[in-house]
Amino acid sequence: MYFCDMIHDFTRIILSWFEENRRPLPWRSTRDAYAIWLSEIILQQTRIQQGEAYWYRFMERFPTVEDLAAATEDEVLRLWQGLGYYSRARNLHMAARQIVQDDGFPQTLERIRALKGVGDYTAAAVGSIAFNLDVAAVDGNVYRVLARHFGIGTPINTTEGKHEFAVLASELLPKGKAGTYNQAMMDFGAIQCTPSSPRCVICPLAETCEALRSGRVEKLPVKLKKTQLKERRLAYIYIRCKGETAIRRRPAGDIWQGLWEPVEMEDVQCTMCDVQLLLLVKDMKHVLTHRILYADFYFWETKEKPSLPEGYIWVREEELDDYAKPRLIVRLLESLPCQQ
Ligand code: ADE
Repeated sequence: MYFCDMIHDFTRIILSWFEENRRPLPWRSTRDAYAIWLSEIILQQTRIQQGEAYWYRFMERFPTVEDLAAATEDEVLRLWQGLGYYSRARNLHMAARQIVQDDGFPQTLERIRALKGVGDYTAAAVGSIAFNLDVAAVDGNVYRVLARHFGIGTPINTTEGKHEFAVLASELLPKGKAGTYNQAMMDFGAIQCTPSSPRCVICPLAETCEALRSGRVEKLPVKLKKTQLKERRLAYIYIRCKGETAIRRRPAGDIWQGLWEPVEMEDVQCTMCDVQLLLLVKDMKHVLTHRILYADFYFWETKEKPSLPEGYIWVREEELDDYAKPRLIVRLLESLPCQQ
């Protein structure tokens, strides 16, 4: 049997659809594993359009993995500001240092997977795109396309479901073309077989799509409901004194490790409790992966510097931009009155 005969009809159609419809993304015109890895880390929780801007930004400032490794963590966090999920930036930086120490980018699936911040999906994407390793990258897009086309109702967030989809995905993988196939599946899921209002009327797989045949397109894939996100309340005081303000770097073991924030109300001793606080923002809502935050934001202008709780420092207000901050804090700071 010829090699080509072994390609599943589904795969053949996906590959030919991709030839016509592929998105011209900048990391698709390079074989540089560093550039490809960077794109995959950025795209883990970010939409393509925003991700593309940050990818350019990083490639311009850090054209090689050596440049990234030589930067400070603060500099990397600052460049990442606005993308959220900052552990991605810290892991990226740590992994860059590891790669440089190990004398080059890892080229096997196991060694790529061992990089900080790289899970099964990212390892498969980088390995197949940069090194043509025969491995299927299975993400939300792929679950959706496979669940619909093959009519699979096993919940995708169960061990059984993950196993079932992983087996099917690797059966469909065309040997020697995994990089192209994986990217074809990403684009097919993003453009054609979208979560809502998929374009079934112009779908090249419509004839064999089990979900379309049985009227289950909107019902697949199945995902078991998670328990409700926990809520957390935060309150901050922005102190203004002689053109300076107080901030601290958030410690390890909680959200936003390594990022900067104004004074948290919880840390304030009662010497500061009696002062006139101006409420600027009440209940600003901010959604993280595992938490919903609600934040209040107070303002206090004073002529005498109060003593600060442990861990806080005074900085000039004009220099606040130099400190990497969580998105919620950036949003709160937008409500500040101008300096007199
Ligand atoms: N989503 C995650 N990785 C991607 C890639 N390489 N191309 C398009 N979309 C993606």
